[in-house]
Amino acid sequence: MCDKKNAECQDYVVCGCNNVWYSEIKKAIEEGAHTIETIKEKTLASTGCGTCQREVERVLQEKSAERSKKGCCGGGCRTR
Ligand code: FES
Repeated sequence: MCDKKNAECQDYVVCGCNNVWYSEIKKAIEEGAHTIETIKEKTLASTGCGTCQREVERVLQEKSAERSKKGCCGGGCRTR
């Protein structure tokens, strides 16, 4: 989670209803949650009022794009 004293910190609360941070969603995706439903199950994000769902989807798309750029093993073995 975000250390508020760190100017480089990019962490923020995505889901206010369940106090779910960007870093938690990112970690869930890295651990295999590749759909909105699995992110909901793992983090509880977007299981309350639902207003954060677009942001959860945006984070998922951001991480999916990063994964596809890195290639099959996530280590940059493939170039495009
Ligand atoms: S802000 Fe995420 S469910 Fe309400």
